[in-house]
Amino acid sequence: MIDGQTRTCGVIGNPIKHTISPLIHNSLAARCGHNLVYVPFLVEEGKVEEAVKGAYALDILGMNVTVPYKSEVIKYLVNVDSLADKIGAVNTLVRTEGGYKGYNTDMSGLKRAMSGEGIIIEGEDIILLGAGGAARAVAYLCAQQKAGAVYMLNRTIEKAQSVADEVNKAFGREVIYPMLLSDYDKLPDKKFLAIQATSVGLEPHDDEVIIEDADFYKKVHTGYDLIYKPFNTRFMKLVVEAGGKAYNGLKMLIYQGIDAYELWNDVRISDEDAEFVFDSIKKKMGL
Ligand code: ATR
Repeated sequence: MIDGQTRTCGVIGNPIKHTISPLIHNSLAARCGHNLVYVPFLVEEGKVEEAVKGAYALDILGMNVTVPYKSEVIKYLVNVDSLADKIGAVNTLVRTEGGYKGYNTDMSGLKRAMSGEGIIIEGEDIILLGAGGAARAVAYLCAQQKAGAVYMLNRTIEKAQSVADEVNKAFGREVIYPMLLSDYDKLPDKKFLAIQATSVGLEPHDDEVIIEDADFYKKVHTGYDLIYKPFNTRFMKLVVEAGGKAYNGLKMLIYQGIDAYELWNDVRISDEDAEFVFDSIKKKMGL
């Protein structure tokens, strides 16, 4: 029941109609018995500053930020968490004295989703597929979490090279090793955690996969696909066929929401509540 004490949170972006964040946060609020509503806000180009200031003036408790404003929003914040600042992308605004502080719960959510499956980045040698926006953020997370060697494979080597230079410089050590995608057979002969951060295989292109060769998958003990539509990607199937474990990106999506919800409400969501929300979102999305 919305009443005089209801708190409001929301998400800004353009377009915004497709967002599933309201499902995640309103489910969490119902589950926790919090008097909170979460709504989508379409923000037109050039209106981000007004949106952030207006949200603050309206006592909005917290905001998510999605495409295309995750970088632009930073200049309107009073503070930015150190990893989000390094990545240069913020998806969560937390109300503080005088303005909002920015966080990147896409990456903290990925870390939490992985650790829930027993996957720890620290000390792990990793194959990171892709060098676009998503892969770049994952590269920063891996460096921050003290991964071993991270082999960043991309079709366009220059992009992997530039992300590697940037991340290695930011952390003052050689952690990201750029490679041409087609050189995957030159990877060291061992088993890796492989993170699939390209758009290849995304619905409706369910039959596509970044690397076809079954021999590649013999080098993968765990495959983590950031895609969650389809629920079981071709990449995941190939990992499993080669004897590895495979996960999709839905838990990451749920945990980016949970991490934001916890920051806003100063609560801890239990694993049981997280599981409940995961199941209900999965059902609502028809997955
Ligand atoms: P996002 O923000 O989701 O990361 P992006 O920045 O457009 O999206 O990056 C897309 C990634 O998928 C890139 O690594 C891209 O490779 P290139 O840098 O060579 O373009 C990769 N990608 C997309 N389609 C691909 C394909 N058909 N084969 C190989 N890589 C592909």
